[in-house]
Amino acid sequence: MANLFSYEGKRVVVTGGATGIGAALVDLVKELGAAHVTVLDIKEPAVDVDQFVQVDLSDKASLDAAVGQLEGPVNVLFSNAGVAARSGVRTCLAVNVAASRRLTDAVLPLIPEGGTVVYTASMAGNGWPQHLQVINDLLAISDWDEFLDAAEASEPAQADVYPFSKALMQVFVMQKSHETIRRGVRVNSICPAPVDTPLMVDFRQDMGDKVIDWSVDVQGNGRMAVATDIAPPLAFMGSDASAFINGVNLLVDSGFTAAMTTGQADFSGLA
Ligand SMILES: NC(=O)c1ccc[n+]([C@@H]2O[C@H](COP(=O)([O-])OP(=O)(O)OC[C@H]3O[C@@H](n4cnc5c(N)ncnc54)[C@H](O)[C@@H]3O)[C@@H](O)[C@H]2O)c1
Repeated sequence: MANLFSYEGKRVVVTGGATGIGAALVDLVKELGAAHVTVLDIKEPAVDVDQFVQVDLSDKASLDAAVGQLEGPVNVLFSNAGVAARSGVRTCLAVNVAASRRLTDAVLPLIPEGGTVVYTASMAGNGWPQHLQVINDLLAISDWDEFLDAAEASEPAQADVYPFSKALMQVFVMQKSHETIRRGVRVNSICPAPVDTPLMVDFRQDMGDKVIDWSVDVQGNGRMAVATDIAPPLAFMGSDASAFINGVNLLVDSGFTAAMTTGQADFSGLA
């Protein structure tokens, strides 16, 4: 039987591949035999890749120019780049949501049957059911500027933009997957708990150490995730081993959500 986890012969595009989770993913897919790896990032990756395209994903024109440099086929698109709330409400929504959507639509024609799109969402987006109506209304807007104007003005974005951006992505995955699977393209996300990457510095400043340390404590495993904990589930979702998985936001949180859902989380650390 063929190795379903292999990336041999696959052409892969990774956004945000310069540091953190994306950099670990680039290393892994290369190790798994990827035929060609393109990184789209604002910063140059430290690791060797077949193609680096510099792009500012908060800027529509920059994104469109970057897409113009991609050559098909693209077997796996990892839309992974993301920023924290301290980048600003509009930038957070642009990079985390608008760019992922626009990139998906632009790259889809290059993705052959059997290909897949995988987002790095977050368990921070688990609260999507509370905002489903607003999210559905926003996702119905396809124009970049109109979407950003409406999303930026929305109450959940004003209240706490990062989790809302990831809630939008979790719902987007469920919507988009239904459309793309009709031509054999799967769409899923990975939803990590806090991960020790450069972005963690921003999260600690935005949310405070107490919340971050508490959430790690609820996991019960005694440590924060590192990028190499998240890259393998991403690689799995992009591989043929997940061929029947579509429209799924896969939690990679060492049981945080399970503890919360079953009332086993100890909130005393937050007092
Ligand atoms: N670190 C965590 O705790 C955590 C938890 C859950 C989900 N995530 C998500 O994982 C993804 C990767 O984040 P990370 O933790 O590896 O952080 P990171 O900061 O190491 O990586 C983010 C990457 O995105 C790139 N990037 C940022 N802004 C960009 C822009 N405007 N245009 C192009 N590239 C840009 C950065 O240069 C970097 O390479 C993000 O989507 C993040 O929201 C992170």
